Amino acid sequence: MAASVVIAPSILASDFARLGEEVRAIEAAGADWVHVDVMDGHFVPNITIGPDVVKALRPHSKLPFDVHLMIAPADPYIEAFVNAGADYVSVHPEAGPHLNRTLKQIRKLGAKAGVVFNPSTDPSVIQWMMDEIDLILVMSINPGFGGQTFMHSQLRKIEALRRMIDAEGRDIPLEVDGGVTPDTAPLCIAAGATALVAGTAVFRGGAEMYAANIAALRG
Ligand code: DX5
Ligand code: ZN
Repeated sequence: MAASVVIAPSILASDFARLGEEVRAIEAAGADWVHVDVMDGHFVPNITIGPDVVKALRPHSKLPFDVHLMIAPADPYIEAFVNAGADYVSVHPEAGPHLNRTLKQIRKLGAKAGVVFNPSTDPSVIQWMMDEIDLILVMSINPGFGGQTFMHSQLRKIEALRRMIDAEGRDIPLEVDGGVTPDTAPLCIAAGATALVAGTAVFRGGAEMYAANIAALRG
């Protein structure tokens, strides 16, 4: 199971002055997806990347772009991110009044639809709409910044979501984001995660370390 876990480096921890090069380097180092953290200074207390940056990065990698929207509202910007090359677009339920409508909009635009759980968000928010979901992302930190400490309380939630996915016989990736390191990755995988986002743990040490850093997360 550990061998097949998806590793999605978060470019939030990369050198923003050399983003294209950084994305090429993580692909060469064995990354599976590219995790893009979009923040608006409103839904979370930080501002990062917009659709034009995603568009500029698209020619640098063949990997799926896993775009994590930490913006409110999200709906008016989904089309721009899909057109820019996002493969997965994930939204927080708290970002808008109609999660189901938002997920349908993402799929209609041709991308895969993800739901992100803040540490306080209950799994039941997706209970009646598993049909509309292509990715589940569990935050193991409060969103907004890289380099935070993993919240072990979220392991029980990962287990609960794994049970929900399995009970319906679905093949929805279950991704964890925040404080994922070689120490916490095995806990996530044991709880049922199939994809891991990691910023600090992938990008530390410079490009010559990326392959070893990614391998260490696979366990
Ligand atoms: C935080 C982001 C994360 C972050 C993870 O809001 O969603 O993707 O970059 O960073 P690390 O791996 O450093 O905790
Ligand atoms: Zn993220």
